[in-house]
Amino acid sequence: MTHSRPAVTKAVLPAAGLGTRFLPATKATPKEMLPVVDKPAIQYVVEEAVATGLHDILMITGRNKRPLEDHFDHNHELESVLGRKGDSARLAQVREAGSLAAVHYVRQGDPNGLGHAVLCAAAHVGREPFAVLLGDDLIDPRDPLLGRMIDVQSERGGSVIALMEVDPGQIHLYGCASIAVTTDDDVVRVTGLVEKPEPADAPSNLAIIGRYVLDPAVFDVLRETGPGRGGEIQLTDALHRLAADETAGGPVHGVVFRGRRYDTGDRVDYLKAVVRIACERDDLGPDFRSWLRDYVFTEM
Ligand code: UTP
Repeated sequence: MTHSRPAVTKAVLPAAGLGTRFLPATKATPKEMLPVVDKPAIQYVVEEAVATGLHDILMITGRNKRPLEDHFDHNHELESVLGRKGDSARLAQVREAGSLAAVHYVRQGDPNGLGHAVLCAAAHVGREPFAVLLGDDLIDPRDPLLGRMIDVQSERGGSVIALMEVDPGQIHLYGCASIAVTTDDDVVRVTGLVEKPEPADAPSNLAIIGRYVLDPAVFDVLRETGPGRGGEIQLTDALHRLAADETAGGPVHGVVFRGRRYDTGDRVDYLKAVVRIACERDDLGPDFRSWLRDYVFTEM
């Protein structure tokens, strides 16, 4: 690994989407605040950033930003009530989110797409490579991804995206990469990207998932990127430009992730995340697993 490139220290967490797949729950609550067991999804994502050494977090928020800001702040009233009751376990849980990292906020205004959300981070990020973690995408902490992506960025420069093999019939739900192999078996060179292609037009079954380590050149490209699929400014379109033109700030590499990942903005994936995490928790797992076993055997 070379250490000549600037270290990645900042994480950008876009959380300004409308979350239409999860309506009506997301009518007045950001989908990133939906609880996965007893913590909001975005807290797992902040914990992942911090565990990877990124302590400067910028959240891109939208019209419902208040619950996000409140969650990562102190709640003095609640803390003093729990303190008076001597409930130190709950007090520690309540304080945890407020002390994880320095969390900053910028408001997106209109949700004009993920590319537009990332562009809102330009002033905060400056000219250093930075990480982007989608606030509704959970990566199992036992299957580290972001640290590997940061190492690949440090070795190869440019930008690094996370890719996952999906069923070809599902590729129309994702950004999709055309690739060339490299000497590392979990790393590919990205030669092009297309947002949500029809299966017949998809160049591969490698889908983009919600972790990125980006060269700041992406901001210059995003400023010139017009609306793409769905009328939104797509991060995928800007990364396609970088992949095609090294002089614009490329190359783009992909780390192929083979671990556990949940899109909590999708209802079925959300349920899978809740069930798996509940089953694995020491406090809830024994009771919940035994109920689940009975349920599956007697009612399914
Ligand atoms: P999604 O495409 O999953 O978000 O964006 P969405 O539009 O909220 O979801 P649906 O399809 O309507 O259910 C991935 C991530 O990018 C953020 C979202 O909050 C999510 O974390 N995002 C998306 C923004 O911050 N701004 C946008 O304009 C769009």
